[in-house]
Amino acid sequence: MLSERMQSVLNKQIRIEAESSQIYLAMASWSEVKGLEGISQFMYGQSDEERMHMLKFFKYINERGGHAMVSELSAPALEFGSIKNMFEILFEHEVFVSQSINELVHISLEEKDYATHNFLQWYVAEQIEEEAQARTILDKINLIGDDKGGLYLFDNDIKRLTVVSSVAPPA
Ligand code: FEO
Repeated sequence: MLSERMQSVLNKQIRIEAESSQIYLAMASWSEVKGLEGISQFMYGQSDEERMHMLKFFKYINERGGHAMVSELSAPALEFGSIKNMFEILFEHEVFVSQSINELVHISLEEKDYATHNFLQWYVAEQIEEEAQARTILDKINLIGDDKGGLYLFDNDIKRLTVVSSVAPPA
């Protein structure tokens, strides 16, 4: 059984994951409108992945006798200025999510909730990957700079990153 406190902070994380999904969906749309097919595909994949992160929390909370809740979401930005700026926002957002997961891990220990502590390890590992991926992409974008040919290749290249991300089922 989850403690009230544990349940409440896990439900807050549901909101963060749902908002992440919306942010990346907005990024997908912005890229699609700009004709950046690969980047847009990547962002749609990221958005799906965040929904999967959210659903994992739903299942877990309910399985442990709690009540997973759908909450109001903040509206994401709709314009991102430049590709570089958009990926910087994505990176910073993932760092924020990692901090939030770390805080949950901390609380699970305070609550002596070792089942939740164990459950959260999946997210700890996932955040390492998400941050590393965002950092790699940013490095590439910085290398390309304003080179249009480089950007074209990058847009094509990023499609390969998408395949893995959108197929993972909620467990
Ligand atoms: Fe659900 Fe990208 O963190």
